[in-house]
Amino acid sequence: MNNLLVIGTQWGDEGKGKVVDFLAPAFDIIARYQGGHNAGHTVYLEGKKIVLHLIPSGILHPDKIGVIGNGLVIDPGSFFKELDDLKSIGVEVNEKRLAVSRSAHVIMPYHPRLEKISEAQRGKKMIGTTCRGIGPCYEDKAARWGIRIGDLLEPEILREKIEENLAVKNKIFEAFGQPTLEAGPIYEQYRKFGEGLAPFVKDVSAFLYQQVKAGKSILFEGAQGVLLDLDHGTYPYVTSSSSTAGGVATGLGLSPKQITGILGITKAYATRVGSGPFPTELKDETGALLARKGDEFGATTGRPRRCGWFDAVAARYSCRINGVDLLALTKPDVLEGLSEIKACYAYEYKGSKLKDFLADPHVLDKVQPVYRTFPVWEDSIQHLSNEDKLPAGFNDYVKWLEDELEIPVGIISTGVAREDIIYIKEKCSRLLGAQAEKLFGKH
Ligand code: IMP
Repeated sequence: MNNLLVIGTQWGDEGKGKVVDFLAPAFDIIARYQGGHNAGHTVYLEGKKIVLHLIPSGILHPDKIGVIGNGLVIDPGSFFKELDDLKSIGVEVNEKRLAVSRSAHVIMPYHPRLEKISEAQRGKKMIGTTCRGIGPCYEDKAARWGIRIGDLLEPEILREKIEENLAVKNKIFEAFGQPTLEAGPIYEQYRKFGEGLAPFVKDVSAFLYQQVKAGKSILFEGAQGVLLDLDHGTYPYVTSSSSTAGGVATGLGLSPKQITGILGITKAYATRVGSGPFPTELKDETGALLARKGDEFGATTGRPRRCGWFDAVAARYSCRINGVDLLALTKPDVLEGLSEIKACYAYEYKGSKLKDFLADPHVLDKVQPVYRTFPVWEDSIQHLSNEDKLPAGFNDYVKWLEDELEIPVGIISTGVAREDIIYIKEKCSRLLGAQAEKLFGKH
């Protein structure tokens, strides 16, 4: 059976939700391995916009099992809200359809508060985080102060851990002149969360191992993007988890050998939310036009996304460190309103041409992108679902991209709706193996 990883090759918001939503019917399990409710995976279903933050977007398909791995940080309040929201649109999620790792870490009420202090302390150098407590929760995990989902099910341990944490955290709040927190109410609230979560809690690693042994297939759903990875992104302007392919094994307790293919999602231009280097950023009217036409506002925070030209140097790096097999190109239709299209293929740095990305803000802040210019293709590609109808100018642009990245483009999104998508069957079939038959039938 094939187990496919879907990963964002830029700074997140590449349109992973829609691609996962299309591919999900061909897989048995959809598993997330990192991040938390900082993510926002948008899917349009019968004209309705649905944004999922924590629960894998494959859950919208009634016969699929969603998995939340140990690599995630979970805000239980947000988890239950998402279950309620799903119920309100007729998607029932019970313990047979969703498993939560007992080793995932819990975002506690002090985490977002600590994050606000940390961001304020940085001043002009603030990361521009989603302020959901993601970073401080991962900090506690690494510092071995963390409270895990399994702890919510053990009232005495939970109380002790909350008290131990507050003994330290309250000192920080005092030092910054902020009100301290009391253990009692937090304990009561989180104990109840534990009761609600209990049916979903599983040893996810053992569960997935058994499922793989039984011949089931898994779709791994990456969150954020490669360039926001804690180790390989533009540190310190990154998220606090491993969004690269390596995160799958540690974030689910599964052998890396189980990933049989990697699909990289690439937007036809670039966006970034929050601070940090962005060599191809457009701070002019073209950037504003991309933001408007592409509806580039954060799915989680509503913040406007910074927009810029496609950056093949950065995308090549992402594909290299993840071993991307196939690309899905999203939102190329957004470029149609422009007078010309540019794409960066190299950087000028200290008098020489760089073709390799260095994920270092000191370098990236000083590089000058080198662009190739393309005319806008002759006919619109919007809402197309058949590759034969793609205009020649668009095909030239895609060919250039494939040559630059040395990876084929097998999927092209042509609009926001579920059906606005083109699958180049030969290219997808090679990657999807047995799953291709389920999606496209025998051919
Ligand atoms: P954090 O993940 O909230 O700690 O934020 C760290 C950085 O990652 C900030 O620049 C955020 O804007 C960015 N970020 C976090 N999650 C997402 C996402 O799902 N899409 C895009 N950017 C994100």
